[in-house]
Amino acid sequence: MMQGTVTVLGIETSCDETAAAVVRLTDGRAEVLSEHVASQTEEHALYGGVVPEIAARAHVETIEAIAEAALAEAGMGYGDLTGVAATAGPGLVGGVMVGLSFGKAVALARGLPLVAVNHLEGHAVSARLGAEIAYPFLLLLVSGGHCQLLEVAGVGACRRLGSTIDDAAGEAFDKVARFLGLGYPGGPAIDREAVNGNPEAIHFPRAMMNDGLDVSFSGLKTSVMNHVRKHPDVSSEDVAASFQAAVVDVLVTKARRAAQQVGAKGLVLAGGVAANSLLREQFLDACVVDGIHGFLPSREMCTDNAAMIAAAGWHRLRSDGPTSLDCGAFPNLKIPGLT
Ligand code: KG4
Ligand code: ZN
Repeated sequence: MMQGTVTVLGIETSCDETAAAVVRLTDGRAEVLSEHVASQTEEHALYGGVVPEIAARAHVETIEAIAEAALAEAGMGYGDLTGVAATAGPGLVGGVMVGLSFGKAVALARGLPLVAVNHLEGHAVSARLGAEIAYPFLLLLVSGGHCQLLEVAGVGACRRLGSTIDDAAGEAFDKVARFLGLGYPGGPAIDREAVNGNPEAIHFPRAMMNDGLDVSFSGLKTSVMNHVRKHPDVSSEDVAASFQAAVVDVLVTKARRAAQQVGAKGLVLAGGVAANSLLREQFLDACVVDGIHGFLPSREMCTDNAAMIAAAGWHRLRSDGPTSLDCGAFPNLKIPGLT
């Protein structure tokens, strides 16, 4: 069944985006036939961050319509699918349960194999949806919930080289933006505010810069708050630009160091923070200087999406077979085979 061409419905509900995609795979090469994403940004904006209960309810309300829209765009019905892949964690467990239960229902009703997918494995695979990237490559995964440097040798063969010891990079953007009154989500707001600011106006600390491959953003966030409290008249454009420069400096330095340590030929950015203008620019510059092949996936493939879940699901189905329908949702699910 897993030979030749297969068509997989992917479902992703681990945070604040309800996503479904239909992906056709031929010997592992993926073609995204459709991708539908319903963002809940407006529902959470009022609270300055993702409210898990609101997220779970919104997933319940939209998942069926989103899945059907994805199928319709692909010109298919449930009967045309070869399998269903749904995120089983890590993430906000209420939302994960919604998507996984929906996937189980489709699998049961249509007699299809279900694959429970690790969200991070999806991100690791996402880079290869739009480009032929040779394994092994180094993945800098920076989003609201994750901040890790992974060496990806293949599906199910990831090695974590470094991660944040406190806040994820996107979380730091969101918290600082909220403090500055720039709204939610904070990353794009800071990106915009920084355009007219001076990145050298304030020298914010770069924690653990000379210290391995882990990162820390909690002290930076506190330092921004202390600075603004001490200097209430400071330009928020300068604060945003200086804060952004500090985060990007740390991320690019660590990614370069990791690439050098493992002799990586390819360096890939993924996760919502990969949409950051300064990070994209400095990441590519660094890759040119270091002679490394730098990949910047489209923003749609960087942020949470269901195509990456379908693709990772196909690989898992091939290697491990279907997941039992009594499988659970796990908020802290670890990538299988992660060392
Ligand atoms: O990957 P994603 O959509 O969801 C998670 O898995 O978290 O990432 C969302 C995060 C948020 O923290 C958001 O503020 C950040 O990505 N983000 C950005 C930008 N766009 C989104 N951070 C910095 N600059 C941006 N342009
Ligand atoms: Zn994610």
